[in-house]
Amino acid sequence: MLEFSNVSKEYHVGNQTIKALDDVNFKINKHQFTVILGPSGSGKSTLLNILGGMDRPTKGNIKFKTQFVNEFSDHDLTIYRRKVVGFVFQFYNLIPKLTALENVAIAAQLNNNEDAASSYLETVGLRARINNFPNQMSGGEMQRVSIARALAKKPQLLLCDEPTGALDSVTSMKIVNILQEISNNSDTAVVMVTHNPQFEQYGNQIIKLKDGKVVSVRHQDPVLVGESE
Ligand SMILES: Nc1ncnc2c1ncn2[C@@H]1O[C@H](COP(=O)(O)OP(=O)(O)O)[C@@H](O)[C@H]1O
Ligand SMILES: [Mg+2]
Repeated sequence: MLEFSNVSKEYHVGNQTIKALDDVNFKINKHQFTVILGPSGSGKSTLLNILGGMDRPTKGNIKFKTQFVNEFSDHDLTIYRRKVVGFVFQFYNLIPKLTALENVAIAAQLNNNEDAASSYLETVGLRARINNFPNQMSGGEMQRVSIARALAKKPQLLLCDEPTGALDSVTSMKIVNILQEISNNSDTAVVMVTHNPQFEQYGNQIIKLKDGKVVSVRHQDPVLVGESE
């Protein structure tokens, strides 16, 4: 579905050049849960932002289906971000003055279709919380709202940057369970970035990053997280 070929990203700060990504190659496919693992500063967020059309590479090709994302105009890149990609962030980025339902509805422009918005909240197990405001929810619940919000766009790529970074281990497993189910039961490919090696076992594809370089790409039968965990 998506392929990175020889992708590099350099940042220039003063007279210093920082190689955030250095000649990176990998593929992302449907029905795949890709876990990108690497220590802080290894280039994970840079990679995810380029994958999601939020940033451009210095060099290399990003091929989505038949199109080269790196050649998109700013306008095409905006459409790609809007139509193809759903984002989930470590700190949820919910709108505080809107309920769970409104947060989901507004993102997907489902304002006239509350049933659709609530069905996405049901998918993440939050049916009972649809009228709660973010400050009336736990971190895990807010993260589930933010996943529902991303899903409501029916993205082909769901990109999650340290989605469990602010959560305890039990709650983290609920989030990983939801991400596994999305990748198994829908056409959305899921990519999760994390610094925590504990999550390696749950992905179908594991990409390890260090100092902006891919040090390994591995495929495996993942450990499936049960609902009860
Ligand atoms: N906008 C930026 N300007 C300059 N340097 C940056 C910028 N964004 C990231 N970097 C640098 O690029 C490297 C990779 O950063 P990042 O992708 O955020 O890593 P990670 O998400 O793995 O912690 C780091 O050395 C970081 O300091
Ligand atoms: Mg990061």
